[in-house]
Amino acid sequence: MLSPDFLWGGATAANQYEGAYREGGRGLSVNDVHRGCHCGQTRQIDGQIQPGAYYPSHEAVDFYHHYKEDIALFAEMGFKCFRMSISWSRIFLQGDEETPNEAGLKFYDEVFAELHRYNMEPVVTLSHYEMPLALVQKYGAWRDRRLVEFFARYCETVFRRYKGVVRYWLTFNEINALMLSSRPWLQAGLVYGEDENAAQSMLNAAHHQLLASARAVRLGHEIDPANRIGCMLLYPLRYGATCAPRDQLEAYQQMRQTYYFGDVHCRGRYTGACQAVWQQFGAEPSRQPGDEEILAQGTVDFIGFSYYCSNIVGAGVDETGGNILAGGRNPYLESSEWGWQIDPTGLRLALNYLYDRYQKPLFIVENGLGARDTVDQDGRVQDDYRIDYLARHIRAMMDAVEKDHVELMGYTPWGCIDLVSASTGEMSKRYGLIYVNKDDDGNGDLSRSRKKSFYWYKKVIETNGAIVKE
Ligand code: BG6
Repeated sequence: MLSPDFLWGGATAANQYEGAYREGGRGLSVNDVHRGCHCGQTRQIDGQIQPGAYYPSHEAVDFYHHYKEDIALFAEMGFKCFRMSISWSRIFLQGDEETPNEAGLKFYDEVFAELHRYNMEPVVTLSHYEMPLALVQKYGAWRDRRLVEFFARYCETVFRRYKGVVRYWLTFNEINALMLSSRPWLQAGLVYGEDENAAQSMLNAAHHQLLASARAVRLGHEIDPANRIGCMLLYPLRYGATCAPRDQLEAYQQMRQTYYFGDVHCRGRYTGACQAVWQQFGAEPSRQPGDEEILAQGTVDFIGFSYYCSNIVGAGVDETGGNILAGGRNPYLESSEWGWQIDPTGLRLALNYLYDRYQKPLFIVENGLGARDTVDQDGRVQDDYRIDYLARHIRAMMDAVEKDHVELMGYTPWGCIDLVSASTGEMSKRYGLIYVNKDDDGNGDLSRSRKKSFYWYKKVIETNGAIVKE
């Protein structure tokens, strides 16, 4: 049985949800120069906003002006918590100023007050795929150690402002994505292709984010000991393609790039597994005296992670062609239209692997199916495929708790309301339980409506998961 205080909810992030990119004095973020694409492939990055080009994050689905309506819908489903992120560039427009932007802080005061009106706990990511663009232009992004201080200032500001209002925090969304070649721009403002010392830059950026995360954890605990502060890992599960030991070893070596971050977040030091990663890249992060203490003093309270799919690894495997989470095709699994292979048992494994390794409470802060929805003649979305995906993953998660005795705090499916895809910028890659009327070109009145999965998930929460076992 899941505990009665299990945190059921849903997950979003400002860069894909909030919009209003120039309102309330907000500064530009890296995502604001990241163009959408219609081909399901990775998006184009521009150095600055090109006149006439369409940038999906500028309006996104306008949570900024719809938050009351959206939160009421989440409350109707019975959410106990709601995962969102604070846009750093709404609080510090350039990232390196001394004084925060009051209008930005006030916006989140109002959002949190609205969540509390419905007894929903905010779960807040401090950096979800965005940072002030000026930090990239002036300092070269997370390559530069000064960002640790700028991030600490931002964290201190929001920890003080929202003391007693926000209890659950996550530091960097999918921090390991900066090591996977997939999302270094969104994750850390980096483009490796143009960098002669890509491996060194990547390890330095990772080190700076790990220091910044540890500083944040320590600050958050000092400001309010009731704060529970977690990390956030992307869990890209890999299986060896065959039982050939070399395939198994290769799968493990790829997973080690995720444990690199988990080890430092949870154990407070670079472990032997981390050193093996340095060897693999032929570089080591530049460290300074005192760094060891900072890392040791900032270990996380829990592990937040995202899980969508798995891949296989080995010589000659067939590629899925999926964007971002691409990998080897597994003959036992089906794929989403975007090539992400659907593997609920993989979630149970992920929970076990992480719990066995770290013995810290876990929180599934993202999981879901990106799919093309159609609205029928009566204006309804009959998304049985999404219900099926979620039900199978929730069942696997409950098995991990009930049969494997993993400690799990909560479950927040990704994009509980349709929002912009991080990898492609598309609207048509929808995850929501709530439909938003907007297309890939930005057309649509942004009206919200309940999908079939909305009513289903409401029952899941009402029965504390029991309904998925029927
Ligand atoms: C996670 C990210 O990797 O996957 C989210 O934290 C993202 O920001 C989600 O939206 C799904 O990816 P995509 O590319 O389908 O939006």
